Amino acid sequence: MSKQSQIRRTTVPEIRARKGGVPIVSLTSYHAHTAAIVDAYADFILVGDSLGMVMHGMESTLGVPLDLMIMHGKAVVRGTRSSLVVVDMPFGTYEESPSEAFRNAARIMKETGCGAVKLEGGARMSETIRFLTERGIPVMAHIGLTPQATNVMGGFKTQGRDEDSWPQHEADAQAVAEAGAFALVLEGMVEPLAAKITKQIDIPTIGIGASVECDGQILVLEDMLGLNAWTPKFVKKYGDLGPAIEQAVSDYATEVKSRAFPAKEHTY
Ligand code: KIV
Repeated sequence: MSKQSQIRRTTVPEIRARKGGVPIVSLTSYHAHTAAIVDAYADFILVGDSLGMVMHGMESTLGVPLDLMIMHGKAVVRGTRSSLVVVDMPFGTYEESPSEAFRNAARIMKETGCGAVKLEGGARMSETIRFLTERGIPVMAHIGLTPQATNVMGGFKTQGRDEDSWPQHEADAQAVAEAGAFALVLEGMVEPLAAKITKQIDIPTIGIGASVECDGQILVLEDMLGLNAWTPKFVKKYGDLGPAIEQAVSDYATEVKSRAFPAKEHTY
């Protein structure tokens, strides 16, 4: 049997149909090996542009190039067979015009084999979302705390603390849903606003720091594994791999220095 015939991925309509149903499970992944582990449990895997900070030590996501997203996207698609793979469009590759967005999203889809792209922004991106979906590119939207707009927002701040800002967030959610987005990430949003938006729109909301009221949840894998020194307060650490890796590296260094590794009987 060819590898191709063993692949049966969750589809975009299947994610969309989960509105109000069993919560959607999602994590980020940037490489084939972690993606292969996550694949058994996640409905979709996001190759997030957070990889700029998590994997490449950048200060923000703004410097992430399209080629880097494509490289990591390819790795995640290769490592998986059942999750829908969604790849983030990085800053500067989609905001200027719908045709620029189409050109770059089509490259991501063709070169990685992923099933959808994600982009940040609400009502202002609705024309682009419609343009892409009408041309065969499924789009996941992302509103609330949008890290690519961190300079405008003045940092990573929870959105919706001031009730006067709610109508704008609600209008953004409605606009992207009407434009054809199949799901909407709500990041860093107060619970009552996330709950209100989730009730108002007919596509699933995926929360990250936006409460249990959403239709699904996503976390950055390295955050929940305890690999990042700093994580937002809402993140629960389901693992503590940082110290485990440090211990393994330290044991190895000790054994190499004392000539305990490799053992004589261990040949290649
Ligand atoms: O880049 C990313 O990892 C994301 C998630 C945090 C939603 O956009």
